[in-house]
This record gives sequence, C-alpha cells and structure tokens, in this order.
Amino acid sequence: MTSIPAGDRPVVSQPAKAIQPAWVRISHWINAAAMIVMILSGWQIYNASPLFNFTFSPFVTLGGWLAGGLLWHFATMWLLMVNGLIYLLLGLATGRFRRKLLPITASGVAADARAALAGRLSHDDLSRYNQVQKLLYAFVIVAGIVVVLSGLSIWKPVQFQWLTAMFGGYDLARYVHFICMALIVAFLVVHVALALLVPKSLRAMIAGH
Ligand code: HEM
Repeated sequence: MTSIPAGDRPVVSQPAKAIQPAWVRISHWINAAAMIVMILSGWQIYNASPLFNFTFSPFVTLGGWLAGGLLWHFATMWLLMVNGLIYLLLGLATGRFRRKLLPITASGVAADARAALAGRLSHDDLSRYNQVQKLLYAFVIVAGIVVVLSGLSIWKPVQFQWLTAMFGGYDLARYVHFICMALIVAFLVVHVALALLVPKSLRAMIAGH
C-alpha cells in the first residue's frame, strides 16, 4: 500500500472546542433575563410594604402596581427555578463546577485580586477562571439558591413551614430574601462591568468561542 508523504496529507481541521458549552450559554442568558425580571418586579412588591426607610423609584420597577409586580414575580420564578435547577444539575453531573470553580483558596483570591487591581491579570486563557471569578461565581450560585429558597418560604409559609422555620420565621425570611437580592445586584454591577471590560469573554458567552 502506498503511503502519502506527511507534507502532502490533507489537513483535517477539527472544530474548535467551545469555551462556553451551549448548555451553559443558554441557561446563563435565560437566568440573566429571569433574574432581572425578578429583581425589578421584586422592587415593585417591596414598595407596597417596605422593610427599610426607602422605596424604589417607579422608573426601575416592573408591574406598575403591587398585583402587577406579583404577577411578573410569580410567573418568572418558575423559569428561574427550572432553568436554575437544570444549570445546577448539569454543573454537578458534568463535573463543570469542580473543574471550573474549584479549588478556591484565600491566598489565590488575594493574589489574583492584587494582580487585577494592578492591571496585571491575564485574560488570554478564557477557558480558565481566575480565583476572583471562581469566588464570585460560587458566591452568586449560593446566593441564587438562598434567594429562591427564602422566596419559597415567604410565598407559601404554611405549606413550606419547615423552610420558613429554617430561616427563623416569616419576618426574618423576608430580610434574608432582600439581602440575597442586594448581594446579587452588587454582583451584577461588577459582573457586567467586567464583561464589558473584557469583551472577548462576552463573545464567548454568546457564541461559545
Ligand atoms: C445581564 C447581564 C450579564 C452579562 C452581560 C453577563 C456576562 C457573563 C459573561 C461574559 C460570562 C463569562 C465570564 C468569563 O468568561 O469570565 C458570565 C459568566 C457567568 N455569569 Fe453572567 N452575565 C450577566 C448576568 C448574570 C446574572 C444575572 C447572573 C446570576 C445572578 C450571572 C452569573 C454568571 C455565572 C455563575 C457565570 C459563570 C458560569 C459558568 O461558568 O458556569 N450572570 N456572565
């Protein structure tokens, strides 16, 4: 059998492996849209019975009035819960969380935070998260789980008595729900600013590469 010299062999190009697989991209954007609707409609609901000495401007609330806010909130929570559950299950089953988010060490976070502030943090390899990203993503995943659980406990405090009790009762569960929302909003501000600062990470989250 005649063999083709190495230099003359056709080059078979392999499709580049996606930096962000399709299931991550789809669930991320559904989650982002659902989160934003939940936050804006949540602010509308909050305004009807504020926990603190302030209310949210009508320009940043969704629903127009209490009942409208509740309708948006209760409709979108299903999307957030089902989509969030799919993302969590796939993240665990595929080993993505272990591979991409662990380990997180205090010294690693401190070193990467210092490097980021000094403008020395490399963004060449988008397939690996730095320690600050790992910490922020792990943190927002936990905040997302707690915001949903505390939400369930104030939505159906009779049916989910055990859950409401776990948060220290209905009133405390409301504070937990609000604090998680505030932490998620703080995450979002930093997260979106960083995504815009490193546009190729945004491209990877949209197109995969
Ligand atoms: C709406 C504006 C948003 C934009 C523009 C955005 C953009 C991005 C980008 C570009 C990445 C990839 C980051 C990288 O390679 O470093 C990413 C990852 C991620 N984002 Fe967002 N995001 C948004 C909203 C959200 C929201 C609302 C949440 C959750 C509350 C969220 C949670 C995450 C998580 C957990 C990851 C890591 C996903 C993984 O690797 O499994 N994002 N986002």
